[in-house]
Amino acid sequence: MAHFAWGKSRQTKIDQGGAASGLGLVMPDITEAEFNQLSQLVYQHAGIHLPPQKKELVRSRLTKFLRNRKLSSFHEYYQQVLHDTTGLELINLLDAISTNMTAFWREPKHFEFLGQELLPTLKQKCKSMPQWRFWSAGCSSGEEPYTMAMVLLNTMNHKDLNGVKIYASDINTQVLNQAQRGIYPMSRVEPLSPEWRRRYFQRGVNQFEGYVRVKPEVKQLVEFFRLNLMDPFPFKQEFDVIFCRNVMIYFEKTTQTELVNKFYQCLKPHGYLFIGHSESLCNISHQFAYIKPTIYRK
Ligand SMILES: C[S@@+](CC[C@H](N)C(=O)[O-])C[C@H]1O[C@@H](n2cnc3c(N)ncnc32)[C@H](O)[C@@H]1O
Repeated sequence: MAHFAWGKSRQTKIDQGGAASGLGLVMPDITEAEFNQLSQLVYQHAGIHLPPQKKELVRSRLTKFLRNRKLSSFHEYYQQVLHDTTGLELINLLDAISTNMTAFWREPKHFEFLGQELLPTLKQKCKSMPQWRFWSAGCSSGEEPYTMAMVLLNTMNHKDLNGVKIYASDINTQVLNQAQRGIYPMSRVEPLSPEWRRRYFQRGVNQFEGYVRVKPEVKQLVEFFRLNLMDPFPFKQEFDVIFCRNVMIYFEKTTQTELVNKFYQCLKPHGYLFIGHSESLCNISHQFAYIKPTIYRK
């Protein structure tokens, strides 16, 4: 892996995941009514379903807001979010509530299928320069779309990638900032082979010791933006491939059904939808053809 030293004069401070939640301090209680108010708000805006067993999780993730604002109850906090006309409080709430677990090369069968079957098929059908559009919907901190980019670089002639773009969206602004930076602790790239680590990452030095950064050729294939999947999609062109993995598990059946049908609408004919290995389109009314477990085609 090449060594690099970036940001030597402008010392960028690496965010280690936000302020500590006050270990050792007493957490305020959350009543059932307060939990219901907050979970209803999250459901209305992000489609995320928080069952009663998530009460403690909500309490621990939101306590920092009560502390920072010196509020005495979750009801007071709820009122603040509700009456905030800037919308920032709601964004912060959704950032704190959404679960962002992800990894490079997560669920490898999808990336193997992409590199060994799907891209060669797309390439064969392509008479001129590929103009493909990929979308990582619910991309978290970027590991998924960057892995897609690496598969593309590994499979294609680099000059054939000029018209190819991976769009990557999430509701959570904090993970999007991390994704945009493309800097990760070294341990995060362990799922990748040593060869890929060398080829697609630069190793940090000085204040970035212990971190790696995705190389520009990987980064430039990916475009990050904030999108709430509950909102109308803003796209003018259709996609060839959509990855929406480990996102729909947080939604109820009706929300999943609506979303899957929205994906169908914004795919090109024969476009592909990949969902997470623990997810399924069973019991959902849709028009996709089943290709393999968790892989569907329009
Ligand atoms: C568990 S992560 C999955 C990340 C990646 N797709 C993977 O499989 O590794 C789920 C992501 O979905 C995002 N998410 C949840 N609800 C969303 C919504 N309504 N709109 C957009 N993104 C959402 C979360 O912020 C989170 O980053």
